[in-house]
Amino acid sequence: MDQQQLIELAFTAADNAYAPYSNYKVGACVLCKDGNHFLGANIENASFGATNCAERSAIFTAYSYGYRKEDIEALCIVSYGKKLAAPCGICRQVLCELLDHKTPIILSNKENTLVTNIDELLPMQFTDEDLG
Ligand code: THU
Repeated sequence: MDQQQLIELAFTAADNAYAPYSNYKVGACVLCKDGNHFLGANIENASFGATNCAERSAIFTAYSYGYRKEDIEALCIVSYGKKLAAPCGICRQVLCELLDHKTPIILSNKENTLVTNIDELLPMQFTDEDLG
């Protein structure tokens, strides 16, 4: 699957977002090395704090199907915003644990695309190594 197809799949997830409070729809797609993929969308809640972001939805689903970081080729996160939707702080911490640190994270809106990774997005990481 090429990058454009991955972006389009992530936009199909964004279209399924449940975002009645922010009206800000985000989609994500985890592409696995065996060719399988898993979509995620942001799912909001009236209590706000119970909201799940798109990238967490997608990567939790991949893990639920038994995939692990070494099985993941790329993660794509898309939104319709003018700015690229960079993962929030909670998502960066989750991705730090569940993605290899050099795995491409592709951010895209309809105008721009940027490829990054968790080492760039989250410096001075707190990980399991800190727990001793
Ligand atoms: N959101 C995501 O799903 N991913 C991001 O990377 C940034 C924010 C969602 C959470 C909430 O539903 C909405 O966008 C506004 O914050």
